[in-house]
Amino acid sequence: ESGGHVEDFDFSFEGPFGSYDQMQLQRGLQIYTEICAACHGLEYVSFRNLSEEGGPMLPEEQMRAYAQYYEIYDETLNDGEGDYRLATPADRFPQSSLSNAPDLSLMAKARAGFHGPYGLGINQFLYGMGGPEYVATLLVAYEEEPECAADAGMEGYYNSAFTAGGYPDSCKIFEEVETEVTDEDGNVTTTTELVEVGRQVPGSWIAMPQPLYGDDVEFADGHSTELHHEAEDVAAFLMWAAEPHLNARKAGGLQGVIFLVVLSVLLYLANKRLWAPHK
Ligand code: HEM
Repeated sequence: ESGGHVEDFDFSFEGPFGSYDQMQLQRGLQIYTEICAACHGLEYVSFRNLSEEGGPMLPEEQMRAYAQYYEIYDETLNDGEGDYRLATPADRFPQSSLSNAPDLSLMAKARAGFHGPYGLGINQFLYGMGGPEYVATLLVAYEEEPECAADAGMEGYYNSAFTAGGYPDSCKIFEEVETEVTDEDGNVTTTTELVEVGRQVPGSWIAMPQPLYGDDVEFADGHSTELHHEAEDVAAFLMWAAEPHLNARKAGGLQGVIFLVVLSVLLYLANKRLWAPHK
């Protein structure tokens, strides 16, 4: 098997009428804050976004209190010498604190991929499988290191959904391929070459240690903290971070369709009436 396997999660925001689940986004924010933020940044999201329509919609005071939990380096302070101050709603989340951990602001869209047969994106179209599925799958796809890698001394952690990492030769499947070479004098020599024809296990080795195990947080709404649910919640939150106006966009699209249907009916009736005397 090659590539990585992506699981189909049923997110509330899939489909033409889907929308974000406010409570899920709040749970995802909590997981992000308590666990992911230790290494990752979210530098394109402002704290005030957390109170906006269509998002986690934290009450204003809660959002202000949340911002104050962060310290921001402000170059204008201290007569231009710069100093730390508490963050305000207008500030953005900090950048990644771990240099090799990517910023997660746009990750859910960056990894949307084109899954399904021939990379046509059929699965994305039919099942809504995209970036959030990938992020959620990644978090539940840590597995025991496969036997084929036992002596490979790989760095990082084996993950069956992550495809961009290192992969040991000992897990690759090689086949001998013979190639014939004819030189100027017409002498034929055959050489055999080992060519990679497949992989024994999906995925690859990732630098991120498994961040979630289940029961990593405690939710105020009593929602399940099973690993799968946590992964789904934080993936939904990251989808919102990457596409904060999804709710408004879908509502606008629906209004547009309704408008066009009504307009079509009116045009049809007007057309009939106009031409009636001439028939
Ligand atoms: C990479 C999510 C926690 C360190 C990533 C990626 C995602 C992600 C989506 C990108 C994978 C890709 O390139 O396809 C999360 C989430 C977390 C979390 C949702 C919290 C639940 C952490 C923590 C650390 C960390 C706590 C540090 C201990 C890294 C590193 C990478 C990474 C180093 C780069 C991996 C590589 O390219 O091999 N993370 N992460 N992450 N994360 Fe996390």
